[in-house]
Amino acid sequence: MSLYESVLRPAAFLFDPEKVHEVAMWMIEKGFFRAPAFVDARLEQTLFGVKFPNPLGLAAGFDKNAKALDHWYKLGFGFVEAGTITYHAQPGNPRPRLFRIPADKAIVNRMGFNNDGARKVATRVAVAKPEIPLGINLGKSKITELADAAKDYQDSFRLLYKNGDYFVVNVSSPNTPGLRSLQEKQPLLDILTALREVDANKPMFVKVAPDLELSALDDVVEVAHEAKLTGLIATNTTIGRSGLTTDPEQAGGLSGAPLLARSNEVLAHLYKSCDRSMILIGVGGIMTGADVYEKIRLGAHLCQLYTGWIYGGPTMIPAATQELASLMSRDGINSIAELRGSAHR
Ligand SMILES: Cc1cc2nc3c(=O)[nH]c(=O)nc-3n(C[C@H](O)[C@H](O)[C@H](O)COP(=O)(O)O)c2cc1C
Repeated sequence: MSLYESVLRPAAFLFDPEKVHEVAMWMIEKGFFRAPAFVDARLEQTLFGVKFPNPLGLAAGFDKNAKALDHWYKLGFGFVEAGTITYHAQPGNPRPRLFRIPADKAIVNRMGFNNDGARKVATRVAVAKPEIPLGINLGKSKITELADAAKDYQDSFRLLYKNGDYFVVNVSSPNTPGLRSLQEKQPLLDILTALREVDANKPMFVKVAPDLELSALDDVVEVAHEAKLTGLIATNTTIGRSGLTTDPEQAGGLSGAPLLARSNEVLAHLYKSCDRSMILIGVGGIMTGADVYEKIRLGAHLCQLYTGWIYGGPTMIPAATQELASLMSRDGINSIAELRGSAHR
């Protein structure tokens, strides 16, 4: 057990989760934590023209306002996704809105896209030097009607598209009313068309919910091919509560260990139904390097985590990427490309 797990985490968990998040973000911004990346040429990949030093990135929601972009590489991450950013700055839902479930290594949140808005975040992103690939995750402003969603995403994209190595259309958060209906064919196509008007070539992803029926996922896959998306991110948090030993009694999206099985199921389905050129980013329930290994075996090119980092602490990423490399050695695998999708062969 690490010092973080035995001492720091129990101490931090005595305090309000969002307060701890704010203090942790401040410390990261000041460069207090360091956990040098585990370096191994077998973990490197160049995808859609971007070089990733390792396949494990920070998922959206942690650095919502792109405040610590210059620091994530110091913690061993292979890439970072900022956001979700909306066109209009917004406060999010009333507090409390972030809940730990330690017995299940899980979190429930209903943050509701609290963020500084695209204009302010764009000024930060413009001067950032992340050293690792940067994704920017976009959402719909709460005050914008669903019918006007495409323009809202487009307005954010126009402010941000020059920076960022890839963009994500987030239509899968459970905490903005109606947002997930934008995963349906026509609204999704309208959003992607609006973004392509601004820049036809920027690498573009759509992030999906784990709660979609497989038939609805197939619709997303169809749109992804039609709109020539770079890839898909699977998955966001779930409104389901299966896999829990406790009852969190809180509304919101569930993340962490209980999400692993369903997000892996969605990932495997996407791998089977997408063209091989479609980049898949697997996220949901990663707690160890073995979980990363499994997501890549199921079809992920890249992986992300949020909750696992809260439970694993600042040294977790180098440990998990090292574990991934040793599992590859065990199985005589020499690259991520060789491992990818091997569960289906
Ligand atoms: C507190 C919290 C806030 C989040 N905020 C966002 C967000 O703003 N945008 C987004 O696309 N996903 C957001 N997520 C979802 C994560 O990016 C990720 O998809 C999900 O938590 C599953 O991964 P995990 O089990 O590793 O946490 C958030 C998750 C948590 C726990």
